Amino acid sequence: AENLPLRNKKVLITAGPTYEAIDPVRFIGNHSSGKMGFELAAAAHAAGAEVTLISGPTHLEKPAEGIKLVRVQSAVEMFEAATASFPEVDVAIASAAVSDYRPKISATQKIKKSAETMELQLVKNPDILASLGESKQHQILIGFALETENEEENALGKLRRKNLDFIVLNSLNDAGAGFKAETNKVKLLFKDEKVKAFSLKSKKEVAQDILNEIILLINE
Ligand code: C5P
Repeated sequence: AENLPLRNKKVLITAGPTYEAIDPVRFIGNHSSGKMGFELAAAAHAAGAEVTLISGPTHLEKPAEGIKLVRVQSAVEMFEAATASFPEVDVAIASAAVSDYRPKISATQKIKKSAETMELQLVKNPDILASLGESKQHQILIGFALETENEEENALGKLRRKNLDFIVLNSLNDAGAGFKAETNKVKLLFKDEKVKAFSLKSKKEVAQDILNEIILLINE
């Protein structure tokens, strides 16, 4: 335990989807499983880090003893938890699939069926990662991107706008990569436009690849 690479380091990870309440029984959400974030938390914990995992609703098993799990529902709750712990950490990884919008009004009672059509007004959620990027001091900050066109160009734009150290580009064009899969195929894009491409692997192995990059940056 003496020479674990992330000994004495604090790592913050966001994971999973967010649920945006429409009324007490309904929400807007997405199919994110949270798996990538939970694997990152496990890998960082195994490397000796003190890990805080802020997760939206998932069906995953509880992470290992010693990982601090903060469960949230909505983007606003995730934003509050993440911004509160960010100043204390050395590394933050945003792997959550945060809902871009939430219902403007969350009804206090279950909404009754009435007219043939109904409209739901949505308002923008805070961009958690962009906000961490703005207040970044010494921290290493990592984000994810899932693009359907001009993948590398769009991911690099996000890396710059959100003030990241590197961004993990998920491939949509490969069977077995993405939201619900057990596997993922990624490219890591850096500030200097260097690209590291990896093959299709289990999310556990992808998490280790990402963590190895973080360890390299810390030791630089
Ligand atoms: O801009 P886009 O949503 O594609 O960026 C994806 C990255 O930003 C991911 O790392 C995701 O976790 C993070 N994000 C966030 N808060 C949001 C939207 C995205 O932290 N509201």
